[in-house]
Amino acid sequence: MSATVIYIGNEKGGVGKTTTVLNVGEALARAGAKVLLVDMDNAGHLSHTLTKSRPELRTNAAVTTDHIIEMRPEVPRKPAAEAIIEAVRPGVDLIAAPTNDAYLTSAEKYITDDPIDGPFVLREALQPIRDRYDYILLDCSPTRNALEMAALVASDQLIVVNEPIEFSVLAMQKMTAFAQKIKKRQNAGLWVRGTILNRLSAGTQLAKKWTAKFDEAGIPVLGMVRTAEVIKKAVEDGVSLADVKDGWRNTIDYDDIASAITQRKKS
Ligand SMILES: Nc1ncnc2c1ncn2[C@@H]1O[C@H](COP(=O)(O)OP(=O)(O)OP(=O)(O)O)[C@@H](O)[C@H]1O
Ligand SMILES: [Mg+2]
Repeated sequence: MSATVIYIGNEKGGVGKTTTVLNVGEALARAGAKVLLVDMDNAGHLSHTLTKSRPELRTNAAVTTDHIIEMRPEVPRKPAAEAIIEAVRPGVDLIAAPTNDAYLTSAEKYITDDPIDGPFVLREALQPIRDRYDYILLDCSPTRNALEMAALVASDQLIVVNEPIEFSVLAMQKMTAFAQKIKKRQNAGLWVRGTILNRLSAGTQLAKKWTAKFDEAGIPVLGMVRTAEVIKKAVEDGVSLADVKDGWRNTIDYDDIASAITQRKKS
């Protein structure tokens, strides 16, 4: 087994990237996959929600994340395996973002300062642990930065999260253009897999309209996620959507997306 690395992103803030990484990760695990989530966002929202009931794990992560992203040349990088927090959810492991912003900022600087090797650092760090997982999902900030570049270089697939609003689509277009550049120069295997439409109910007129738009643009729609207060609540409470009252109704959306993702592993 060698994990498929998927970057689930958009350069638009607040469209639901982190929520999607978390819930799609859990859905893939429900389908039997072994999943690793990697938090590459200084904001650390994914790490925060996944360690809410055991914050001491996050404190340790502040130390262990330097295994994967500490880039100061004078510090030898430690194995990513040591940074893994196991079983934050059933079948789901986490490499958390550090609680200290300085780590990711120094990682960005390293990548920028070393344009030849820098962008490959995440890819190389993940290599030794790929055989432990079926899927590795990356969560980044919406800002175009060196970490986004490293994540695109490390990924087999890019799945863009969109809300049904024009600004989201504009940001997606910028991001996919950037991804095509990375594909041309640094990661020939990168596949722009498609989009997940967040805050949209399948089967509605609006859903049909947006699906047609994305089809026209050559970006397949892998699935849709309805707006639901319960999704937000589960994230804020740091619990699985499946464990919140009536949450199962919304896990179905994510299970459908997981099934679309697993249907075809490679382009
Ligand atoms: N389908 C949904 N229904 C209800 N609430 C949602 C849904 N998707 C996301 N949210 C909520 O919207 C907010 C923003 O989501 P999230 O943090 O996942 O976005 P993001 O794209 O990762 O943001 P950022 O750009 O800051 O990283 C969160 O409070 C989240 O719980
Ligand atoms: Mg986020």
